Amino acid sequence: MPLSKRFTLTQYLIEERRRYPGASGDFNSLILDVALACKGIAKAVAFGELAGIMGNHETEEGGSINVQGETQKKLDVLSNDVFIHRTEWAGNLAGMASEEMEAPYQIPAQYPRGSYLIVFDPLDGSSNIDVNVSVGSIFSVLRAPQDVIDTGRDVVETDFFQPGAKQVAAGYAIYGPTTMLVLSVGNGVVGFTLDPNLGEFMLTHPHIQVPADTHEFAINASNSRFWEAPVKRYVDECLAGKTGPRGKDFNMRWIASMVAEAHRILMRGGVFMYPRDTKDPSKPGRLRLLYEANPIGFIMEQAGGRASTGREAMLQVQPTSLHQRIGLIFGSKNEVERIERYHAEPAQVEISNPLFGKSSLFRD
Ligand code: AHG
Ligand code: MN
Ligand code: MN
Repeated sequence: MPLSKRFTLTQYLIEERRRYPGASGDFNSLILDVALACKGIAKAVAFGELAGIMGNHETEEGGSINVQGETQKKLDVLSNDVFIHRTEWAGNLAGMASEEMEAPYQIPAQYPRGSYLIVFDPLDGSSNIDVNVSVGSIFSVLRAPQDVIDTGRDVVETDFFQPGAKQVAAGYAIYGPTTMLVLSVGNGVVGFTLDPNLGEFMLTHPHIQVPADTHEFAINASNSRFWEAPVKRYVDECLAGKTGPRGKDFNMRWIASMVAEAHRILMRGGVFMYPRDTKDPSKPGRLRLLYEANPIGFIMEQAGGRASTGREAMLQVQPTSLHQRIGLIFGSKNEVERIERYHAEPAQVEISNPLFGKSSLFRD
């Protein structure tokens, strides 16, 4: 398609807004600011070591551990700053929350406050940055509670505790061989590729759909001894291949950038699992509900895929804390539903009975 005929992100947003004649334009303005933040991060990523942005962030006390108890990279901190400063000024936001900040961020007094909340993971997969593997940014847009809009009061954590189904929009940028922005405003999923000459996101993937079936799965198999029975069963059946109960061979991938796994799955199908496990009883899962599982879940469902905890639809989960972790399974619908069925079926437990040898029984 000739460049002159391609939609830009701005054009796409304006066309979408025409469906809502009363819309103020604040939402579009917010998404464009987020897109500019992503372009800024893409530039920093592209310069890498030349810009001195690789490696761990060191606080004044000499540490580099963030609120999650995880190593914070220089680029985590830089990306968080870029997100804040590109979006705080315009009067579209009532407040924000991020993986890198323990408490919600208040819009500074010199700026007007708006009616949206944004929650983000400014740099996903940041352990990959030093080895030059794709990373990304993830964001979720919520409507602020009415009293926040009416009074302009400071936001508190509970203002963000909205189930994923309430998201107004969600998206991610992936900083890979090309930079892409993938977005859903609740009307399907579209993908834009950053044209480095124009510095514009151009619509290149107008109707992203996740194939319902797949023969590719992604899971960190080093955790297998901590998995719960339904996940073990699913992976065992995949590994058994053609001669197993699935009757087909499966392929496996693990990038350790969830955003990159989500993108692969959107492009060609697959299933991703970072399930609840028994590794650390204080952490029911690895990934975070509000700024990882919910936005990616929204995009998957908008693209015809599915996202789940294994036990319930991800987008129905009522959040209870800002940095809450959760077991996350998403991707091709038929596979995710199969894994949910395995969770719903009573577990088969092997017991040794001295009288009858090995037998099995079922428990809830
Ligand atoms: P983040 O860099 O925002 O902390 O997220 C990293 C996440 C996710 O992107 C990835 O799927 C997972 O951590 C990788 O975990 P392992 O190190 O267990 O592979
Ligand atoms: Mn992340
Ligand atoms: Mn992150």
